[in-house]
Amino acid sequence: MSVTVIPYSDRHFEDVDRLWREAFGDDLPRHRADVVIPAKLAFQPDLLLVAVEQDRVIGSVMAGYDGHRGYINRVAVLKNCRSRGIGDLLMRAAEEKLVALGCRKINLQVRASNQAVVDFYRTLGYGVEERVSMSKLTSPSLDSEKAS
Ligand SMILES: CC(C)(COP(=O)(O)OP(=O)(O)OC[C@H]1O[C@@H](n2cnc3c(N)ncnc32)[C@H](O)[C@@H]1OP(=O)(O)O)[C@@H](O)C(=O)NCCC(=O)NCCS
Repeated sequence: MSVTVIPYSDRHFEDVDRLWREAFGDDLPRHRADVVIPAKLAFQPDLLLVAVEQDRVIGSVMAGYDGHRGYINRVAVLKNCRSRGIGDLLMRAAEEKLVALGCRKINLQVRASNQAVVDFYRTLGYGVEERVSMSKLTSPSLDSEKAS
């Protein structure tokens, strides 16, 4: 069956919400689709991509470019569609978009406990860099949540 990677649009919301709940399980409230997607649609909306098969979303990737570095987040494929090259397809589509914007280096973060995903990114040419990942919440309403 043919899989295409296309920009997200409103009709994909329910599928993406379901995909992220399945892929990211116990995620923080601020990472939910109803929080992340409206924010992304307000900023570089064409960098939120979905993999579609027979009108159904089976994967996602979200990229961003700040004029210096590119970033990739929310890479996910439905469990029953994994190991078919769809993660690879999504990553290459996101990379193409970033390179077209002038991006020369892409950064991404993986939880230290998620070794399988580190291996996935390695096969796509990403290397592990010795860095300390730091962050700061800038919204008071999110103060009670752990930074991530
Ligand atoms: C990571 C993820 C997107 C991979 O999707 P996928 O469609 O199964 O990946 P692909 O089929 O394109 O795999 C590409 C390559 O990565 C490697 N790979 C994929 N999953 C892997 C795993 N769990 N462990 C080791 N290597 C893996 C394979 O070597 C594969 O190459 P091959 O086809 O030559 O064997 C998917 O497992 C997923 O949704 N995980 C949960 C969400 C998540 O943790 N996302 C990352 C957040 S940082």
